[in-house]
Amino acid sequence: MAPKLFITGGTGYIGGSVLHTVVTSHPEYEVTALLRTIPATFSTTYPNVKIVKGDYDSSAILTEEAYKADVVIHNGDSDHEPSLNALIRGLLLPRPTPGYLLHLSGTGIVADWSSIPSLGHPNPKIWSDINDLDEIRALPDNAFHRNTEKILHATAAANGDRINIAIICPPDIYGKGKGLGKTWSALAPMFAREVVNSGGEMFYYGEGTNTRSWVHIDDLMGVYLKVVEAAVAGGGGFGWNKEGYYFASTQEHTHLAVANAIASILKSHNIIKDITPVQISLDQLDSKIYIPSWPYLARYLFASNSRTRAERAEKLWGYKASAPWLLEALEEEVLDAVKKV
Ligand SMILES: NC(=O)c1ccc[n+]([C@@H]2O[C@H](COP(=O)([O-])OP(=O)(O)OC[C@H]3O[C@@H](n4cnc5c(N)ncnc54)[C@H](OP(=O)(O)O)[C@@H]3O)[C@@H](O)[C@H]2O)c1
Repeated sequence: MAPKLFITGGTGYIGGSVLHTVVTSHPEYEVTALLRTIPATFSTTYPNVKIVKGDYDSSAILTEEAYKADVVIHNGDSDHEPSLNALIRGLLLPRPTPGYLLHLSGTGIVADWSSIPSLGHPNPKIWSDINDLDEIRALPDNAFHRNTEKILHATAAANGDRINIAIICPPDIYGKGKGLGKTWSALAPMFAREVVNSGGEMFYYGEGTNTRSWVHIDDLMGVYLKVVEAAVAGGGGFGWNKEGYYFASTQEHTHLAVANAIASILKSHNIIKDITPVQISLDQLDSKIYIPSWPYLARYLFASNSRTRAERAEKLWGYKASAPWLLEALEEEVLDAVKKV
């Protein structure tokens, strides 16, 4: 029988890329997608994908579809607790063999945005998805995505014989997505738009040497594909539950390296005049991309460190980058972002 997969977030940057990658790599899989808005070309592009209309608060639908699936891939909102709980409920209903859950998290969870002395400076801590799992499971509640990771860790601990969980934890992502909805990422477009919106001044905080890991969306899809194929194969000797944690980073860059790359692109298209980055104060930093519900977003995006190594993927299948490097690949993404300013 064909393996049954249930995918959420299929119109998003990551989820749309996952859906496309899985469907085109494995036309033999039976895929169902949860969509709240159905792109006009969805059924012609993916004629064999069954659509279930609903959103992340459609708990009964999520539970039923998770129950029917062998593998659930939950994307789109890494922090949404009711949808995650509904999917877990469905996977834990009695079934002949345990189902699989791939949950999208993010390396924001290990970012040091809440420590003011770390902002704008390099943090020597590089997180491993093999050696640091106890520390990751003990992160404070104010860490990003911690609310849902706690649910996943508790589920794995209590029901490890009835469910197989993999947390996919990408760093900042770049490159064009593959789906029919959103096709660009978050950080680089937000950074470019912020520079243009604030009069064309490139900026950094502290020394600008805070460092973050990155991955191209194509390399990230390589990670998804391997973990999905292992799930379909009944585990495939991969890590699940206690070992089910996958970073995906392929490279890291300082804030200033990214700032200089974006500034050069904007200057070469006559969008800004001066490429020299300007040091800003903490108050100025906090005024960037100000969202009342997320007051320290700029500290996280532009001044924090988030350094991770994809050691599990490297150990399992020799994972390394094959897509273009961040600093060579940003032009289209940056230009597309500033068109919308
Ligand atoms: N982009 C990155 O660099 C990155 C890196 C690491 C982690 N993450 C995390 O990954 C998650 C997804 O990021 P993304 O960049 O892929 O986001 P995105 O492009 O905005 O995609 C969001 C997807 O989720 C769907 N969705 C969101 N809320 C929903 C709801 N209540 N009901 C039904 N569908 C819902 C959206 O559907 P609609 O099309 O209907 O809106 C869309 O398909 C985020 O939580 C983010 O923090 C992102």
